[in-house]
Amino acid sequence: MVKVLFVCLGNICRSPMAEGVFRHRVQEQGLEEFVFIDSAGTHAYHIDEPPDPRAQETARRYGADISGLRGRQVRTRDIEEFHYVLAMDRENLANLRKLCSPGLIDKPRLFLEFARERRVDEVPDPYFGGQSGFDQVLDLIDDAAQGLLADIEQRHLRERTGRR
Ligand code: 4NP
Repeated sequence: MVKVLFVCLGNICRSPMAEGVFRHRVQEQGLEEFVFIDSAGTHAYHIDEPPDPRAQETARRYGADISGLRGRQVRTRDIEEFHYVLAMDRENLANLRKLCSPGLIDKPRLFLEFARERRVDEVPDPYFGGQSGFDQVLDLIDDAAQGLLADIEQRHLRERTGRR
């Protein structure tokens, strides 16, 4: 099982959207038995809360139901256990690195490293803006989700699935 963790600040906007969109892409390829997906926030403001209604609605229109997700805070053990620890922006990345046990400092990466279009390298925080910010987040995330899945298939799943 390849384990993927998406991380933002509050775990109610960007990272749950990334979780839902990436799960949708994984299911589309019939790979859900090979990939475990989760999300978390670097801060504790929204623990046990569902995703922001704007994030839920944006994901729903895309085709992903994220209403059942609940906020949680990232912990050191996550960085040890997950194969991919993907931060939405540099502030999240810096906070993740502070949690790293020695030797794992390079494990957290920016999620948009996997984007194909690479217009920007951070997913902007949409919390204090309007709907267009959520739409932009969804576009960036879906682009990177496809690049991430291609990376996982190439590095981890070729032998297991028997696909080329
Ligand atoms: P997220 O967005 O990090 O994408 O979940 C935010 C959610 C909550 C807050 C900031 C950003 N907040 O300040 O409460």
